[in-house]
Amino acid sequence: MKTRGKFVTLEGIEGVGKSTQCEPLAEMLRARGIGVTVTREPGGTALGEAVRRVLLDPALPDMAPITELLLMFSARAEHIARVINPALERGDWVLCDRFTDATYAYQGGGRGLDINLIQTLEALVQNSLRPDFTLLFDAPVEIALSRAKSRGASDRFEREQVAFFQRVQAVYHERARHAPERFIAIDAAQSLSKVEADLADWVRKVTP
Ligand code: TMP
Repeated sequence: MKTRGKFVTLEGIEGVGKSTQCEPLAEMLRARGIGVTVTREPGGTALGEAVRRVLLDPALPDMAPITELLLMFSARAEHIARVINPALERGDWVLCDRFTDATYAYQGGGRGLDINLIQTLEALVQNSLRPDFTLLFDAPVEIALSRAKSRGASDRFEREQVAFFQRVQAVYHERARHAPERFIAIDAAQSLSKVEADLADWVRKVTP
């Protein structure tokens, strides 16, 4: 039987550059002989990408927070069943651009939903699946948002105010403080080459 792969998630507010780093990070792991599946949330399956379009649609600004939460977890259920678990079972490492820490941060911190509700859905949808490692890309909110804004048209989340992202960021920091064995902080305010060097150091540390 193949050894189960590792489940690695990338987190952080918009504009921290984590999506840009997914492929370079996958290449670093592949260079060490590891099979890698790169995916994202919300999304990663045909159904998940369809749900993503609804979730990010700026024409739906007044979606109830509970609807948003349930859509995130519906996309996640499909993603786990069709992509994440099968990949881990074949021995791949899964690099997932956002996962449930984003739900605690955005729907819990940003929207103010009850954490117990998120914990209940997490247990229901994921069973025992939790990330082995979470790379938290961290930069001051103002810097990250100005980078995100320079990318052009804003989606439903990017239209939120600075205070929303400060609440999101605060939850990320709190979760990282409570699980230091899982979280790796990446200073996203430094140059791209320094970010890549930090990722390469981490890859050397965690791979055989
Ligand atoms: P992206 O910026 O990584 O493309 O993600 C799309 C948006 O979805 C981003 O603004 C964060 C948001 N999101 C949540 O609010 N909750 C979640 O659980 C996930 C996975 C993403």
